[in-house]
Amino acid sequence: VTAVEERLRRRIVERGPLPADVVIDEALYGEDGFYASGRGAGRGRDFLTSPEVGPLFGAVVARALDRWWEDLEQADPFVVVEGGAGAGALVKAVLGAAPACAGALRWVCVERSAPLRAAAEATLTTEPLTQVLGAPRGQGPVVAVSAELPTGPFVGAVVANELLDNLPPVIAERTADGWAEVRVDERLAEVLLPDDAVAATAHRLVPDAAVGARIPILRRARRWIADARSQLEVGPVVCFDYGVRATAELAGRPMEDWLRTYRDHGRGGGWLERLGEQDITCDVPADQLGADHVQTQADWLRSHGLDQLADEARSTWQERAHLGDLTALKARSRVNEAAALTDPSGLGGFLVHTWH
Ligand SMILES: C[S@@+](CC[C@H](N)C(=O)[O-])C[C@H]1O[C@@H](n2cnc3c(N)ncnc32)[C@H](O)[C@@H]1O
Repeated sequence: VTAVEERLRRRIVERGPLPADVVIDEALYGEDGFYASGRGAGRGRDFLTSPEVGPLFGAVVARALDRWWEDLEQADPFVVVEGGAGAGALVKAVLGAAPACAGALRWVCVERSAPLRAAAEATLTTEPLTQVLGAPRGQGPVVAVSAELPTGPFVGAVVANELLDNLPPVIAERTADGWAEVRVDERLAEVLLPDDAVAATAHRLVPDAAVGARIPILRRARRWIADARSQLEVGPVVCFDYGVRATAELAGRPMEDWLRTYRDHGRGGGWLERLGEQDITCDVPADQLGADHVQTQADWLRSHGLDQLADEARSTWQERAHLGDLTALKARSRVNEAAALTDPSGLGGFLVHTWH
């Protein structure tokens, strides 16, 4: 029995069955939870994400930032808030790409896990949040690490890679009598209970679901996006994540397909097994988030110059392969990264949600 399981069981005995999102939140972010213990994205941790594959993803994000910065008439300060920043791989790669906006750039890594915030602070040069937000013009780039979204209004952008899939979903099941909510009882097993708000949302999302169908309801992700958008005076919110276009697609699949667990670079067990010791993550259905624009990650990266960066790397590799020096090796790994980031059955098939 894990420490998280013990605590959850006590809480359920006191208060009754808990909604899935509350249980998942505790398993990931509560005391002894998966992320709270410093686990997560990275080669030395549990799974790889686009920024953790290598610096190319950040180099393309740097190009996108420059485009947005131009759209904002080279605003200074230009504040970029990164949600769910993990150990800071994205900002490192963005700064490494030396974007034109660097002098105006104030980057805030927002990360809920204290050990991951400490890991980011250990490898980045950071300043206190108030200093970063209050820095004089032209003093960028400056970086801060924060446990919560900073309070705006800001001119800039909000970005998040693989955050929304980690904001715990409510789960609904279609029964013979209509929709019910999946909760967790003191055996740490699923129970179905009626809930009017869940039923109404589920019915609206998938009115013709078959009995037995399940869907996630992304209340917390919607709230996070609304909060992020409300901090921006002007500028885009851009979220990268795996998922599908419509919730109905998930209703036709078994829940283990879209509510998955990971640990130690492999898949974990059922979502209620070893609570606190495995990541629990949910495919993100775009229809619940209502972005202004949704496109695949491959298309987004290409629209911001990925092919050009990959072509340059390919020529460098061809010219220098015989030398086998660091420049040659970096170029070769960039070519490989480009293939991984655009693979339609992998990272390239992720969706990019943009609110203007
Ligand atoms: C899958 S990881 C992605 C990390 C990083 N963005 C990457 O791509 O490598 C999700 C991260 O979001 C963090 N997180 C979850 N909820 C959060 C919230 N409400 N605010 C800030 N960070 C959060 C988790 O602790 C975790 O580090």
